[in-house]
Amino acid sequence: MPRVLNAVVAACPDLGIGHRGQLPWHPLRLSKEFAHFRRLTSSSEEGKQNVVIMGRKTWFSIPEKNRPLRDRINIVLSRELKAPPAGAHHLAADFSSALALVETQLSERADQVWVIGGSSLYQEMMESRAPTRLFVTQILKQFECDTFLPDISPDKFVLLPEFPGVTRELQEENGIQYRFEVYESVQQ
Ligand SMILES: NC(=O)c1ccc[n+]([C@@H]2O[C@H](COP(=O)([O-])OP(=O)(O)OC[C@H]3O[C@@H](n4cnc5c(N)ncnc54)[C@H](OP(=O)(O)O)[C@@H]3O)[C@@H](O)[C@H]2O)c1
Repeated sequence: MPRVLNAVVAACPDLGIGHRGQLPWHPLRLSKEFAHFRRLTSSSEEGKQNVVIMGRKTWFSIPEKNRPLRDRINIVLSRELKAPPAGAHHLAADFSSALALVETQLSERADQVWVIGGSSLYQEMMESRAPTRLFVTQILKQFECDTFLPDISPDKFVLLPEFPGVTRELQEENGIQYRFEVYESVQQ
């Protein structure tokens, strides 16, 4: 049984996820949304850690004091870098090498795998044949964006009516409303 791939993303109504290397709503902070991200991507299994896989720009979009993401194994993808950027645990040259690393060197201590951006990684993961879950925060306010989540194909993904631990209630922080959604890949 292949390992489930998880992705987590917060997107504006036009599927925008970033602007000038930051979140679109920067400098506003969505603390409860960030807590949701942290809770999802952190393992609750004793002696194990979740793996977070991200592109180079997403790594550098994280404030330096918060890198690496705590209690998680941080893998950064780059075709150019020759060594992991300072603070990152591993570097991989492509997505399949990152997954191979999880299944070999990290297999004993890795729990779940989480893709945390950016665009091309979300795309690659959504196109993968592995069982996939997308944890999407729908931000219900439009901000200016230059980086986007690919369309979530209804042929490939279904919106789950509920998911344990993920509230369906409308959220609001700093005057911004949002809601959590979970999509699962349809087995083909
Ligand atoms: N809203 C959200 O939930 C969310 C989540 C994540 C990021 N973001 C935002 O999105 C923006 C960053 O995302 P982005 O799409 O511009 O960039 P990104 O995917 O984070 O980084 C792009 C770089 O990562 C490397 N890379 C990506 N895919 C790769 C692959 N398959 N194999 C090898 N290397 C790969 C390449 O690095 P090299 O050039 O070094 O080869 C590429 O130039 C920021 O604005 C950030 O704040 C938002």
